[in-house]
Amino acid sequence: MRDEDKNTALLDWYDIHARNLPWREPPGAAIQPDPYRVWLSEVMLQQTTVAAVKSYFERFTMLWPGVTDLAAAEDAHVMGEWAGLGYYARARNLLKCARVVAHDLNGRFPDSEEALLLLPGIGPYTAAAIASIAFDRPATVMDGNVERVMARLFAVETPLPAAKPKLKALAGRLTPRVRPGDYAQAVMDLGATICTPRNPACGLCPLRDPCQARAQGIAADLPKKTPRKPKPTRQGIVYLARRDDGAWLLETRPDKGLLGGMLGWPGSDWAETAPQETPPMEARWHDPGAEVRHTFTHFHLRLSLRLAHVPQDARPERGQFLPLARFRPSDLPTVMRKAFDFASKVAMLD
Ligand code: ADE
Repeated sequence: MRDEDKNTALLDWYDIHARNLPWREPPGAAIQPDPYRVWLSEVMLQQTTVAAVKSYFERFTMLWPGVTDLAAAEDAHVMGEWAGLGYYARARNLLKCARVVAHDLNGRFPDSEEALLLLPGIGPYTAAAIASIAFDRPATVMDGNVERVMARLFAVETPLPAAKPKLKALAGRLTPRVRPGDYAQAVMDLGATICTPRNPACGLCPLRDPCQARAQGIAADLPKKTPRKPKPTRQGIVYLARRDDGAWLLETRPDKGLLGGMLGWPGSDWAETAPQETPPMEARWHDPGAEVRHTFTHFHLRLSLRLAHVPQDARPERGQFLPLARFRPSDLPTVMRKAFDFASKVAMLD
């Protein structure tokens, strides 16, 4: 089958089966999608599932309907709203990017991949996604879904990540000049709903005839992956102090590094060796003997907790007491939220 016919089959399928997503215009709609909404959704969708992103996208666009609204937001507000979505550098870059677009580019996103790539937080994936979806440019969008679809369609048996350049070249060859944005999203939807990592529904696939992996009976085995090294486990301690008036001792983490710019409990460094006690203030710290576990991209974390009730005139060496009225547990990144949920349970018991 010729490449044009593969694209036609895929776009015909997309016209009927496109997922209805809050940042999308339906296929064939005469309206171009708003570049701000495309950018915001694509940044949120990096390493994150559609299911997890939907409610965050709805809330962000309700709070900040356009790029100038977001540019004018307070950093802590945006970081708090991002909490739970992970990969927090995205949120810091999101704000930087919004401010460049609002202040230096008259509130308009550039329409070429090259110009988009110059903006904070926009890498090859996001630049190609915005150029194709928002501006109908024939850019090749590569993500895990596209890699899987290409590996199967062309029966590429080289394992990932070594196969990436080859898969990119194949995807580039297929990218059409007409409807490139719909094409990009059609491949993503195909990867998410039919050409799934396990148990692909080949019988329903618009590309079942030309699919070489299906012909060889190896679709479910592709793409192959070079095994990764197991993740190490790091350990740390966090200190949760509650003042008599209910205020909690919190700190904003430094901008650089993991969970940068997010609210969190003061604590030790996280290392593969036993952690050092580094209490943020003198208090009768209680060890509830429990641990919070959380997995980041490159390591597992086990956090021990220390809890204390402290008097109203307490003077911490680190962090600040946040009055109850100003503390939203939903502003915490997930690992810090797990520690809070545990401490609240203990506090309810005593
Ligand atoms: N994953 C990343 N971007 C997407 C999009 N625009 N549609 C569906 N899934 C996606």
